[in-house]
Amino acid sequence: MILVGEDPASKVYVNNKKKACEYIGINSYEYLLPAETSQEELISLIEKLNNDERVSGILCQLPVPDHIDDQAIINAIAPEKDVDAFHPVNVGKIMTGNFDFVPCTPAGVMELINESGIDVCGKDCVVVGRSNIVGKPMAMLLLHRSGTVTICHSKTRELAEITRKADILVAAVGIPEFIKGDMIKPGAVVIDVGINRIAPKKLVGDVEFEAAEKIAGAITPVPGGVGPMTIAMLMKNTVKAAQINAQK
Ligand code: GUN
Repeated sequence: MILVGEDPASKVYVNNKKKACEYIGINSYEYLLPAETSQEELISLIEKLNNDERVSGILCQLPVPDHIDDQAIINAIAPEKDVDAFHPVNVGKIMTGNFDFVPCTPAGVMELINESGIDVCGKDCVVVGRSNIVGKPMAMLLLHRSGTVTICHSKTRELAEITRKADILVAAVGIPEFIKGDMIKPGAVVIDVGINRIAPKKLVGDVEFEAAEKIAGAITPVPGGVGPMTIAMLMKNTVKAAQINAQK
């Protein structure tokens, strides 16, 4: 795991990933680099790890400081060690449905859906958010399960009319409590990917939980819903990377 700079949320995420590795018996190493690290230095560390046989998986926590091009960093990670599934090779594989690694957050959402016995086939699925990390791959995974998928975002017109048709609603827009109770179809499955800190000790999701839970048939809380699943899926990808790299 590589962390560049001092972003407090990133530090918490990296620490949680480290604890999960310890819990399941994966050796993890952290490279905590100063914010002034150059792009060249960061890429040269990644190349060293790409070539290190003892390393199965590489993760650079995003965001990186502004002077570093995050896509250049993602592109530098060997696809077979890319446990985040952010590299264009892995992104392309998700499009075709023939993938080794699934991006951790969408994978965690699918695991919650599966384990709750929810059948996606034929359902109206609405994903609010179009990021490369969550929204886009989330839509693909739901499509692979034969959902009828609509991707919306902050510029979508008449958003509430679209979300109100959703049997499965995934909120991944990064705006605190953006999805209100009256935007939800009664009985819908509501999955909240947002983690927004609105006060030093208060995290909320992208869904107004109190109103939404009265209307939804099933809903995930924040914190404690999708977040821990993301880390569990990272562990799964890392084990898979170890298997793939052992066969080479
Ligand atoms: N920043 C926010 N989410 C993630 C993630 O899943 N992986 C990485 N590397 N950075 C992130």
